[in-house]
Amino acid sequence: MKTKIITLIALLLCGTSIYAQDHKTLVAYFSWSGNTQHVAEYIAKETGGTLFRIEPVKPYPTEYTPCTEVAKKEKEDNARPAIKNKVADWDSYDTVFIGCPVWWWTAPMIINTFAESYDFKGKTVVPFCTYGATYRDETLAKIVELTPDAKHLKGYGVIGRDTKGITEWLKEIGQLKK
Ligand SMILES: Cc1cc2nc3c(=O)[nH]c(=O)nc-3n(C[C@H](O)[C@H](O)[C@H](O)COP(=O)(O)O)c2cc1C
Repeated sequence: MKTKIITLIALLLCGTSIYAQDHKTLVAYFSWSGNTQHVAEYIAKETGGTLFRIEPVKPYPTEYTPCTEVAKKEKEDNARPAIKNKVADWDSYDTVFIGCPVWWWTAPMIINTFAESYDFKGKTVVPFCTYGATYRDETLAKIVELTPDAKHLKGYGVIGRDTKGITEWLKEIGQLKK
């Protein structure tokens, strides 16, 4: 009897660790001035996820006002700015964090390009964003809207690059590294 119980516990422990190894997380983000990158790096550290920086083929202007003008035009044109890089081994990820700054009250159009470039069936998407003052919830909702085939977990948004509260949020949604 004792041997049976020990064998059962060993099997259960083995099963749990196989699950933990199999569960893979991607932290995909777009960042223009570094805030979202900072937050994405923090999330990757806390979840054990792999970082993927969404890189535009045509870089945005480095000056603030010209960048806002390009971003505004892309939004008005419902543009799909091309992405330079590709996620390696997409199928191996179960959970995909998608993060971006708020641009003109919503996600930058390059997030549309990203969402339309991959198959989200069977994935769990977790939205996150950084912003100056407004439109956090609309931006998180936009990321959900852009990935209709995925399941979603509660998202999170921070002002600037403030990482306060992120660990608690990740714990709440069950994404902290074991
Ligand atoms: C083109 C553009 C549009 C923006 N629109 C908004 C906005 O609608 N609401 C807001 O709160 N912040 C807005 N911001 C501020 C950014 O969301 C904020 O600074 C963000 O943290 C920048 O992230 P990043 O450093 O990863 O690019 C805008 C910034 C830019 C460049």
